[in-house]
Amino acid sequence: MTKPTPPLVSGALPVLGHAAEFQRNRPGLIRRGFAEHGGVFAIKLANQNVAVVIGPEHQKTFFMETDGRLSIQEPYQFLRAMFGEVLFLAPHDEYLRQRPLVQELFKREKMLHYVDVMQEVVQEWLDGLGDSGEMELTSEIITLVQEVAGKCFLGPEVHQAIGREFWDLYTDLSKALDPLLPPDLPLPKFKRRDKAKARMTEILRPIIAERRANPGQYNDFLQDIIMKEDKAGEPVDEELVRNLLLGLMFAGHETTAGQAAWTIILLLQHPQYLELVLDELEEVAPAGVHIDPKRMVQLDHIEWAVREVERLRPSAEMLMRVAKEAIEFGDYLIPAGWLVQVAQEIGHKLPAYFDQPEQFDPLRFSPDRAEDKQHRFGLFGFGGGTHKCTGMNFANNEMTIITALLLREFELELVTPKPQIERGLGASRPSETVIRYQRRTVAPAGGTPMETSLAG
Ligand code: HEM
Repeated sequence: MTKPTPPLVSGALPVLGHAAEFQRNRPGLIRRGFAEHGGVFAIKLANQNVAVVIGPEHQKTFFMETDGRLSIQEPYQFLRAMFGEVLFLAPHDEYLRQRPLVQELFKREKMLHYVDVMQEVVQEWLDGLGDSGEMELTSEIITLVQEVAGKCFLGPEVHQAIGREFWDLYTDLSKALDPLLPPDLPLPKFKRRDKAKARMTEILRPIIAERRANPGQYNDFLQDIIMKEDKAGEPVDEELVRNLLLGLMFAGHETTAGQAAWTIILLLQHPQYLELVLDELEEVAPAGVHIDPKRMVQLDHIEWAVREVERLRPSAEMLMRVAKEAIEFGDYLIPAGWLVQVAQEIGHKLPAYFDQPEQFDPLRFSPDRAEDKQHRFGLFGFGGGTHKCTGMNFANNEMTIITALLLREFELELVTPKPQIERGLGASRPSETVIRYQRRTVAPAGGTPMETSLAG
């Protein structure tokens, strides 16, 4: 007997369905759906059917299905006007050609270099803060992460030459994100997007040509992409270099900035756990000490806090696919043409997997509790399966470095007591959050400022 389609959540309006509520309060809608129907239910966005699937087994199906049956390319088509046929926006064969190129850019020895660059950039920022003051954390961290991305991806010379203009153009691109309207309508925001893309092409073209002519002079992501050849020995063409660069910056910078800012905020809201982090820093990497890989892996309490932020405040919370064929999820059959969505706001908070799931409790990831090990698809802030985030280690390292360096040098206090989650079309982030900072006069015990690492 054919299985039924997923049951519809209450509250659908004529014509609009749940569209208005989805815009206004998506977590509330998803929570109601889960309470009414359990792990598989439907919502309607105007005439589009959407199946929401919750629970590790359904999440596993979502991430492990083939692109042919559950397409990642289709729901994100609106990004193509910005980035072209890049990564999963490209047809499947082209995606398979590009993926190893990108994965190679994040391999271990590259990552070691990026982590050094991250430390330089974050240290420069801290040195410029003075001894005390107030700052708006969210925008500060966005600029900081742009600086890291600029130096790691474009390289310090290019970043210095074009950095600010590049990010301003980038903002024009992001503001044109629109999943509903046809991307070629003559609207001001789309015109600004096209102008920004044209200007970026103009800026990057001579840089790419110069880089091709002088290989061996640079050590950064841009150079690595330029010098890559695919399996057939073909060099990556200029347009793809540009699109990869822009696409990776899009995938990586606001997402990382959002979770990095939340890590600081949640630690400040939980002083007992913050003490554990500070004690560990004193022991492993006090102020002035370079954080080499050996020290990095000993920063367990920061690592668990970063993972807890992935669970409670994920930046990329709306992951979607389009069913190309009818697909079973548990007792239901999702017909071809439906959108399928996983939902971290419930999926990351199932009491069967996470004890007191609403609480910020990073120790749940300590080896004796290891709540995330109960099911491979219980925690999916970086996705899973084929499309799992390529930049996950880069992002986790960056969030660790920002947290460690900031906390060991400054005492911080939240002036905005309860920052809220701000959801946009790109990544989620904290609302404006003012913090007060005071440079620590005594370096945390165990190390003198400027001590350098012996571990090499
Ligand atoms: C905290 C920061 C980040 C978060 C939360 C995040 C989240 C995600 C998620 C959820 C996916 C899967 C999307 C889906 O299945 O629909 C993804 C994919 C991806 N991410 Fe990230 N990401 C982050 C940082 C980065 C960084 C720093 C980069 C690179 C510079 C990056 C590059 C990518 C790429 C290339 C993919 C596509 C992988 C593929 O389809 O093969 N991400 N990310």
